[in-house]
Amino acid sequence: MTTRQRHHVPDAIHTNGSASNPWWANAVVYQIYPRSFQDGNADGYGDLKGITSRLDYLAELGIDAIWLSPVYRSPQDDNGYDISDYRDIDPMFGTLDDMDALVSRAHELGIKIVMDLVVNHTSDEHAWFQASRDKTSPKSDWYWWRPAREGCVPGSEGAEPNRWGGTFGGSAWEYDEERGEYYLHTFSRKQPDLNWENPEVRHAVYDMMNWWLDRGIDGFRMDVITLISKTIDANGRLPGESQGLIPDEAAGEEGYSSPWPFSMDGPRLDEFLQEMRAEVFEGRTDYLTVGEGQGISPVRNEHITDPANKELDMLFLFDHVGVDQDGAKWNIGQLQLPELKRAMVDQQTAVASKGWASLYFNNHDQPRALSRWGDTSTEESRVKSAKAIALMLHMHRGTPYVYQGEELGMTNAGFTALDQYRDLESINAFHQRVEDAKVQSAESMLDSLSKVSRDNSRTPMQWDDSRYAGFTPADAGVEPWLAVNGNKAEINAEGEVADPESVFAFYRKLIALRHTDDVVSSGSFTAIDVDDAKVYAFLRVLGDRRLLTVVNMSSERVSLPVETYLRLTDGLEADKVLIANVDIDDLTSSVAKGELSAWSAFVYEI
Ligand code: GLC
Repeated sequence: MTTRQRHHVPDAIHTNGSASNPWWANAVVYQIYPRSFQDGNADGYGDLKGITSRLDYLAELGIDAIWLSPVYRSPQDDNGYDISDYRDIDPMFGTLDDMDALVSRAHELGIKIVMDLVVNHTSDEHAWFQASRDKTSPKSDWYWWRPAREGCVPGSEGAEPNRWGGTFGGSAWEYDEERGEYYLHTFSRKQPDLNWENPEVRHAVYDMMNWWLDRGIDGFRMDVITLISKTIDANGRLPGESQGLIPDEAAGEEGYSSPWPFSMDGPRLDEFLQEMRAEVFEGRTDYLTVGEGQGISPVRNEHITDPANKELDMLFLFDHVGVDQDGAKWNIGQLQLPELKRAMVDQQTAVASKGWASLYFNNHDQPRALSRWGDTSTEESRVKSAKAIALMLHMHRGTPYVYQGEELGMTNAGFTALDQYRDLESINAFHQRVEDAKVQSAESMLDSLSKVSRDNSRTPMQWDDSRYAGFTPADAGVEPWLAVNGNKAEINAEGEVADPESVFAFYRKLIALRHTDDVVSSGSFTAIDVDDAKVYAFLRVLGDRRLLTVVNMSSERVSLPVETYLRLTDGLEADKVLIANVDIDDLTSSVAKGELSAWSAFVYEI
């Protein structure tokens, strides 16, 4: 029995692939980063018991499912994205019993649990990798092992098979003394890439996935899943291997080139995803599969998420969160709104008749969208722009994802010194760019980190105004693993749940609207005036109903182009405003003048 009634359309997509309304078509998913959500045992780290104790809050918000970032056993080199045992829970987070308790309480509340699945790589401490270090082991070929470059002494400087760099710094190859060879790690040296060419690897992964689904979870968010198929030549060699070395001129400013072009959306990706679907999901219903979609174009998204192709339900694309990045991740600039719109429109259009979109601006890898694109200069502009960005995202067609704290209007961390950061990507990038490659000064890199570092979104959840924001008890005698944001007094759940005008209350309305209004969940999408640099507007249409979304994405009062909004200047009818972040009378009078105040956003039924 669920304690809440909600509008759910029949699920047929997973059983016969023909119906177009699975449960997630009008659902909203909430992402929890377990380290930072709720510390249940006063040790400074979030955990499963902590999450369970906060499920009522999520039920009140109204979300349908939780995506839980990894809680498996892990050395925590990359905060759990380096897994050493897929069938156990890390002691930092609790036990398998705690996990079962979380799933069962969530189900009682009508909330599904989607676990992270990290299978492009394991931890170097995983038993599979340990076995693989022995050339005579049956698991010898489970990872990407390669000898030193011809003519070089194994392990000596520059002897790596090629010049590929790891995403978190240094070479993408690590020398293993025991085996006398190098292994590929697209991420840190503690995250060796699994060799998906080997069917035993794939079946071991599928077994593990079935084990979790049988235990009661509802699906997977698949970490860097579009990297699992690497390009190899007829001799089984990786690109550049036959030439020994990828030419130095191909190396970037930090001295390495990236392996990503040779693994994103690789040649066997569709085949692997179809095999996974057949081995794991066939015969199951009511689950969700969402892949992290690096390198996937909107058109490929349509293919992978088309139910007829039996691959994935949806993917997280990246083009829209890269529009303000100039080359390197660390060069973040001013958003040009039309570029964001074009990226969103391309994604929406590609899946207009087949396939599905996920909708997100925030997650544990992105800085807070509110700090990035909104206006946090005053309390009023923070609240208003948080609602404006939320309304804009949630009114698109697809499944929206809310990242913990987004529903409170939480902001970037505000760190000013390197020792405040914990994220290995941020720390390694600082050393590499400032000290090794000398491409940025320390001051400029700290500025970059304050805007882009992943720790911006990983600060502890702000529950209340107490010393550690209710994340860790104030008298615990330990500090949270990452500092609490200094704005906990203004931004916290306790205050917002009680306030009908809060960002939380606004998210609640948006989520409810998706559950109850078919135009929001299923209507077609048509953008209006994509070149407008300040107003983001679009139409959603289903049958004879038409919803117009208008958002002023700027801190200035704007005029609404008369030709586009002519019908509105005749006067808004208050009862046709479905949701707005401004007082309806103010909205009506400004729209009648052909104007919209800073960060105003509304949905109007025309
Ligand atoms: C994904 C995760 C990120 C992690 C990386 C390696 O991009 O979202 O947090 O560091 O994969 O697993």
